[in-house]
Amino acid sequence: MIFTVAIDGPAAAGKGTISRAVAARFGFAHLDTGLLYRAVGAKGGDPVAAAEGLSAEDLARDDLRTLEAGQAASRVAVIPEVRAALMAFQRRFARAEGGAVLDGRDIGTVICPEAEVKLYVTASAEVRAHRRWLELGGDAAHILAEVQERDARDMGRADAPLRPAADAVILDTSEMTVDEAVARAISVIETRMAQE
Ligand code: CDP
Repeated sequence: MIFTVAIDGPAAAGKGTISRAVAARFGFAHLDTGLLYRAVGAKGGDPVAAAEGLSAEDLARDDLRTLEAGQAASRVAVIPEVRAALMAFQRRFARAEGGAVLDGRDIGTVICPEAEVKLYVTASAEVRAHRRWLELGGDAAHILAEVQERDARDMGRADAPLRPAADAVILDTSEMTVDEAVARAISVIETRMAQE
């Protein structure tokens, strides 16, 4: 079976948590595409060469979740040649046999416009920053500024800007618990599967 779930949305919206839960529920493979950009940013040097030569080791670094790595990711993510170098791998993953969940910024719009399910997961910037603060600790105001700066860059870039696909289901999780958000995502997928 080929079945793709595309989960896009702004920084710290809960895409990762929802994606992992959905992948576990349906037995689908999961790709956190943000990790690819984080690894390219963290590698340093020429970002295009870094993207072209990305290895499993690069993705296994333990410093990819930091605020700095997020910023570095969104800076290299504006470069069209970087995005192009990462595209074929993501497309193959999305359409591989057995079902796949990919989370990122452009999965439903660019990587896999034919995805059977597209979710756009969002929440207010304040709620998202608070969640990231619970995860990382540190200075709350700094985290909010980081989230807002990254959203502006991701939404404002010319190549594959962050925006919901026309046929995406919008999931605003500002006032939802994790369990509620996951249940809603699962119900959208089950409804779509019933039409197959
Ligand atoms: O976890 P969080 O939502 O904070 O970020 P992420 O998904 O790990 O993505 C880090 C950065 O990579 C984003 O701010 C984007 O600039 C970039 N990215 C992208 O451009 N396209 C994707 N499909 C995924 C991430």
